[in-house]
Order: sequence, then structure tokens, then C-alpha cells
Amino acid sequence: MDLLWLTCALICFLEIVSTIITSVMKVQFKKIEIAPNIDLLYKMELEAFCRPFDSPSVNTDELKLYLEDAFAYLGYDKKGKPISFFAYHRQEKGKIHLKLFGVLPAFQGKGVGKKMLEKIIALSKGNLLTARTNPKNVKALLLYLGYGFNIDRWFDDFWGDGEPRLLLKLNNK
Ligand SMILES: CC(C)(COP(=O)(O)OP(=O)(O)OC[C@H]1O[C@@H](n2cnc3c(N)ncnc32)[C@H](O)[C@@H]1OP(=O)(O)O)[C@@H](O)C(=O)NCCC(=O)NCCS
Repeated sequence: MDLLWLTCALICFLEIVSTIITSVMKVQFKKIEIAPNIDLLYKMELEAFCRPFDSPSVNTDELKLYLEDAFAYLGYDKKGKPISFFAYHRQEKGKIHLKLFGVLPAFQGKGVGKKMLEKIIALSKGNLLTARTNPKNVKALLLYLGYGFNIDRWFDDFWGDGEPRLLLKLNNK
């Protein structure tokens, strides 16, 4: 009887471990040139920022201008499909601001956002890292807070779209 219980417990344990392993997606990040990839970045931005409170760029020119001084990365799945994106810029010495950060909807909730944030934290080591998000964006907010960001400031209408934004800060020294 004891052996039966032990076998059942072991099977359950292995099931849980395999569920955890298969639900976390493998993703590889590569730095990209912004200008030649602006159409792709814009398409991905529109796909990811699709909720009523989101304000994606109105066109590729606006996105290009917004990312003028930024460094951009794409996250690729194991088949080489781009599934996520982020971009940051150096505001001044010791300060890095995250400008763009998203995972395509079909790939959300699989740990890609976490891997992306870990990559950004590694890239910005030694700097103050800031990000801006809508307070209604609970997923993003929980993700940032989970990695040690603090809420620094509330803006009623930062982008002029009638939506509030929070400034988040991580002392990544
Ligand atoms: C925010 C975003 C990048 C998160 O990426 P993701 O790949 O879905 O996130 P992960 O699967 O890595 O989850 C990371 C954390 O996010 C939070 N989260 C993810 N899905 C969530 C959900 N459905 N509800 C609440 N929190 C959620 C949790 O804190 C989670 O950590 P946990 O798994 O330990 O609980 C993604 O939802 C996205 O691209 N959204 C649209 C664009 C956007 O809002 N970008 C951020 C702008 S500042």
C-alpha cells in the first residue's frame, strides 16, 4: 500500500514539474537596428497594445521618432518567430528609461515578460532604471513591482491621451 502511495505521489510530482517546464517558453533576445525593422516593430506594438487604455504610436514615423535615441531588442521563440520586443534609452549618465516593452498576446502569460525584464535589468546594471505604465495595466504593474521597482510618481495625462501614467523606478546599482 505504501509503495502504491509513493508511486502516485511521484507521478503527481513529475506531472507538476513537466507542466511547469512546458509552460515557460524559451525565448532568445537579439539586438536589432530600428530603422530597417520599424514596420515590424510597429505591427508588434499595435498587436500588443490593444486594450482601451493603450495608446500605441499612430504610425511608423511617430514610432521611429519616439525610438530615435533608443536601443531595441526582439525576443524570438525556438522557431525564430519574433514574439516580443523592448527598447530603452539612456536619459543621462546613470539613468536608463524603458521606452517600449511588450509580448504578443498569443505568447503572454508564459514567462516571456519576466525573461525580458531580467534581460533589461542585466543590460542596465549599474544604472537607475525607469519605466512608465498605465495604472490600469495590472499585469505590467505586478511584473515591475515583482522585480523590485517602486512607484515614484503619478501623471494625470502624461501623453495627452486622457490616460494616467505611473513612473516606476528600480535602483539597479
Ligand atoms: C505586461 C506584459 C509584458 C507581461 O508579459 P507576459 O509574458 O504576459 O508576463 P509573464 O508571463 O512573464 O508574467 C510575469 C508577471 O506578470 C504578471 N502577470 C502576467 N499575467 C498576468 C495576469 N493575467 N494577471 C495579473 N498579472 C499577470 C504577474 O506578476 C506575472 O508573474 P507571476 O507569473 O509570477 O505571477 C504583457 O502582458 C504585454 O505585453 N502586455 C501588453 C503590452 C504592455 O502592457 N506592455 C507594458 C507597457 S509598460
